Amino acid sequence: PLVALVLAGGTGTRLYPASRADRPKQFLSLVGDDSLLAQTADRVNFADHTFVSTRPDFADEIADHAPDAAVITEPVAKDTGPALVYATHRIREEVGECVVLVVPSDHTVDGDFQSVATSGARVASETDALVTFGVDPTRPDTGYGYIEPGAEQSLDGESYFDLAAFHEKPDVETASEYVDAGYYWNAGIFAWTPESLLSAARDSPLEPLVDALDAGEEERGFDDVPEVSIDYAVMERADHAAVVPATFTWDDLGSWDALERVLDADEDGNVALGESLTVDCENTVVASDDKHVSLVGVSDLAVVAWDDRVLVVPKEDAQRVREVVSQLKQEG
Ligand code: GDD
Ligand code: MG
Repeated sequence: PLVALVLAGGTGTRLYPASRADRPKQFLSLVGDDSLLAQTADRVNFADHTFVSTRPDFADEIADHAPDAAVITEPVAKDTGPALVYATHRIREEVGECVVLVVPSDHTVDGDFQSVATSGARVASETDALVTFGVDPTRPDTGYGYIEPGAEQSLDGESYFDLAAFHEKPDVETASEYVDAGYYWNAGIFAWTPESLLSAARDSPLEPLVDALDAGEEERGFDDVPEVSIDYAVMERADHAAVVPATFTWDDLGSWDALERVLDADEDGNVALGESLTVDCENTVVASDDKHVSLVGVSDLAVVAWDDRVLVVPKEDAQRVREVVSQLKQEG
């Protein structure tokens, strides 16, 4: 069977102040009427089973967005590495032999997702590779992983590539080299059999968790495992992985500058979510909940007003919003 595993335990730090500790971005309706999580659950409705992976504090709210999915709650949120080992282990116990299709809940997708996902799942089950989905890059984005394709392969007449190397979130110079060299962006979507993922995780910093889960000692496993994403922990060192070209339209709503790619701009390149007015502005992003925001004579800024908070950041520094959140956290 094909098992969809929707990742919904992140906090969406870079979309502060719309995303907050108790209201992560997957619960927000930023594009379209439904929340990003509800849209994701709908996108994977062709799977035989759907699970949602999340952290304890979000567990109760999942059913409001994905009522038909089973929820897997990791005991401690330690990023996607531990979350995916834990969820994959649980799925192996509950479903048995299967292919797991991992789908983040912070993407907008358009086009034929199902056929691409299904052929990736087929590659995972036939070859035991850890399968990634590669998007053609349009800019040297530092918020993504980059995949170097190796030899071309084919399965049932559909072509895919061996994964030669995986580089998570490079700096901008390196990212430009990767774009020029024809690398793919990692879409953050994966397909694997439970055996393939768990054996790759045994050769990684996630090993203490796999061993503890095998021994039925979940709590000890989460004490001993580092906080690390699956990309750094497993994908960067995977020796049997593949990349299937993602031919659907895809975007990660990771940071505020992403809105300009998914909303319609005015003739000066300004985009807005919520009520706003721009005078003599170019290429701005304005977002607000119930406030009317005006901008005069500025360009290339993102301005966000949400709840009782305001954020102003040059669009090119939109990734740095995570520094605000970590400083606020330190100040308690
Ligand atoms: N259960 C659980 N637990 N889910 C989590 C956790 C956690 O601790 N942390 C994050 N997630 C979920 C998020 O909600 C999101 O749906 C997904 O995992 C990916 O996490 P992000 O934090 O959004 O990752 P990213 O966007 O920085 O990077 C990943 O995605 C990019 C493409 O969107 C990487 O895979 C990159 O390589 C990739 O390019
Ligand atoms: Mg993301």
